Amino acid sequence: MPETVRQEDRRELASAYARIRRLSEQLCQPLQPEDMSLQACADVSPPRWHLAHTTWFFETFLLVPHLPGYQPVNPAYEVLFNSYYNGIGEQYPRPQRHLLSRPTQQEVMHWRHHVDHAMGQLIVSRPDLDALITLGLNHEQQHQELLLTDLKYSLSFNPLAPAISQPLTSDGEPAPPLTFQDFTGGKIQHGANADEPFTFDNEGPQHPVWLSPFRLANRPISNGEYRDFINDGGYRRPELWLSDGWAWVQQHHIQRPLYWQADLLNHWTLAGLQAISPGQILAHVNYYEADAYARWAGCRLPTEQEWEHAARQSKQPGSFVENGRYQAGQASAGLLCHMLGDVWEWTASAYLPYPGFRSAQGAVGEYNGKFMCNQMVLRGGSCVSSQNHIRPSYRNFFYPHHRWQFSGIRLAEDG
Ligand code: AVJ
Ligand code: FE
Repeated sequence: MPETVRQEDRRELASAYARIRRLSEQLCQPLQPEDMSLQACADVSPPRWHLAHTTWFFETFLLVPHLPGYQPVNPAYEVLFNSYYNGIGEQYPRPQRHLLSRPTQQEVMHWRHHVDHAMGQLIVSRPDLDALITLGLNHEQQHQELLLTDLKYSLSFNPLAPAISQPLTSDGEPAPPLTFQDFTGGKIQHGANADEPFTFDNEGPQHPVWLSPFRLANRPISNGEYRDFINDGGYRRPELWLSDGWAWVQQHHIQRPLYWQADLLNHWTLAGLQAISPGQILAHVNYYEADAYARWAGCRLPTEQEWEHAARQSKQPGSFVENGRYQAGQASAGLLCHMLGDVWEWTASAYLPYPGFRSAQGAVGEYNGKFMCNQMVLRGGSCVSSQNHIRPSYRNFFYPHHRWQFSGIRLAEDG
């Protein structure tokens, strides 16, 4: 490759690095020091922990092994901010991350900038590490989303309903009509094409699959539509639920989506307590709720293969973190709207390796592959994803009972 092209690549990576690292810090601007340690349950992490763990990733997987003479800022951070990599070693217990009042915010910021400076040296001198650095940046973007969803969950326990974003304006109108688009199916190529600039390992290898004819909804389900399900006894009718889902409803006395108030009129948002707009795209339901809603509607959830096939033809993306609202938008009319952005869409597919999938060697190989058991695939990104982080082949995964992500419902039918 000519030298000029390589210089150009270096500059591009360096500016992506600066931009993405900066965004993590910008997202914390509206937070108070007291917010930075909040962790309301074991599934979520404190904002400061996210800032530290993403820094740990660069220090552990890039600087320590690859930058000659690099000294970790504090050797104790290796355990404190290791999330789940057994190949690196021990981990500080996840449910207790809120106990880490030290390192302080100032110390974490100092560590971030120290790592950023050292990463600058690696970016200019080691083009062979581009893929790993890009993984580190995509990792940081995943944690930016988690930082906001985790914070929403933790703040929701505060009756003061703290606001860190501006409320949505809504005319109170219901969503435009739900329609279905026909797909003929047949033999298609599924998964990320090997020549895409970056994809996670779990998005490939690309492989042929056979799709039977199917139909897919033009948009996700709205708050108003989901309220109809509740008012029709949705949470009280066992025939609508999977066995595990019904057990979950009974055990936790579930009657509505996470963050909805008992009046079904207001919900907690990152803009405080707000009126539920009927035309807004529904968020914060789990797989069981998505599946029950689909059965109630006489439909089903799409498989991840159907979803990805359709998403490759979709042209109207929705809301991403860039608009600063941190809420799903109003459902719009049109063909295959909001497939990317707004809410992660539950699929009927278990999170499993594609044929020929192999995890990378070493601890970094633990990134995605070891979670391929008992979780479901979600597609399309959400209103707190970065737009340039999401693509049709992107596979997110959560356990069926999880609902603190911006997760919603798109219906499918057999063709
Ligand atoms: C893909 C969102 C399930 O939350 O652990 C963060 C993202 N991977 N650090 C997670 C991730 C490594 C992952 N999810
Ligand atoms: Fe992580």
